[in-house]
Amino acid sequence: MSDFDRVEVIDNGAALRLLREDGSDLRFHAIWLRDNALDPATRSPGNGQRLITIGEIPAATRIESAVLDAANRLTVTFAPENKTVDFRLAWLNALAYDRTPAMEAGWLPESCETWDGGFATRLPQLDFTRAKQDPQALANWLAAVRRFGFAIMTGGPVESGALLEVAALFGFVRETNYGRWFEVKSEIAPSNLAYTSLGLQAHSDNPYRDPVPTMQLLYCLENTAEGGESFVVDGFRAVQRLRQENPDGFALLSRHCARFEYAGTSDTHLRSRKPIIELAPDGELVGVRFNNRSMAAVTDVPYEAMPAYYAAYRHLATIVDDPAMAASFKLEPGASFLVDNTRVLHGRKGFSGSGSRWLQGCYPDKDGLLSTLAVLQNNGRRIAAE
Ligand code: FE2
Repeated sequence: MSDFDRVEVIDNGAALRLLREDGSDLRFHAIWLRDNALDPATRSPGNGQRLITIGEIPAATRIESAVLDAANRLTVTFAPENKTVDFRLAWLNALAYDRTPAMEAGWLPESCETWDGGFATRLPQLDFTRAKQDPQALANWLAAVRRFGFAIMTGGPVESGALLEVAALFGFVRETNYGRWFEVKSEIAPSNLAYTSLGLQAHSDNPYRDPVPTMQLLYCLENTAEGGESFVVDGFRAVQRLRQENPDGFALLSRHCARFEYAGTSDTHLRSRKPIIELAPDGELVGVRFNNRSMAAVTDVPYEAMPAYYAAYRHLATIVDDPAMAASFKLEPGASFLVDNTRVLHGRKGFSGSGSRWLQGCYPDKDGLLSTLAVLQNNGRRIAAE
């Protein structure tokens, strides 16, 4: 609600207060308002980018006057520039920061919904042909990826490289030492254990990269092998469980960096130093790195804390391995799945030597996916003042 009916300048012009009839209010600082002004001298009308630096705004900026009119417009005059700028109340309301959220470490935004194995009965799916023809259906599918970190695309072409057509629906593929895409086939002398018929514990891909691949697309071309089902585990749900069952362990895995490494071929040596559980500075859970194959020797945990760190790592692994956490499915040729690799762990069951299993994978970036989603939802230009 932006039904403000009064404004007052407070703290000698350092801030203003918008008041509603019911007595609730929102405060904004002079420096915040000045920096975020939408006038054409501050923001480019063409691309929305800011035209001034923080140093060009006087440190002594204060509010000289603030007037609210009947058109839900707030007119503010800043001193010492003697500059007058209009703000829409709905815009201010949408960007309100005058709140004190009680957020415990590991909190998640509303746009994120965690799940366990029961998710298998409601996996988001979309047909490839429909995705190409129906922007609303594609938007819904991308929104499901944002919410659950996972979705399936069915009905794609059964031909090598078709995964790039799926990725092109929403974004851009990151090229790595594995190429623009990579093959997941059984090999006799594999350079990576993914290329065998062994089962693989649920994991996130390539934690030895910094930044990690943010999404992974795995595309099925053949799947006649006995077994070999894919499964996914919501790493965020696993972390939530760990926090509940073992708060000290949760703290250890988030406060200390692990190390990850891959040097499986002579031309590659990738290393990273990042925590298994990554939190933003305000405690938001933003990432999980979990991969037994590529975890290197951990050397950033104090001697005294190492046993408890290992116990916490074991505890998290036990949760990840809990069958109740896994959503399983089997891909048909032409089907693919997309996971948020910063959150959802993927694995596969072992499969027998008869029949064949051929997948191709690539790493599209999540920022492009979220951008496409925002554009499809017609809110890509958040700078719009109206
Ligand atoms: Fe993988």
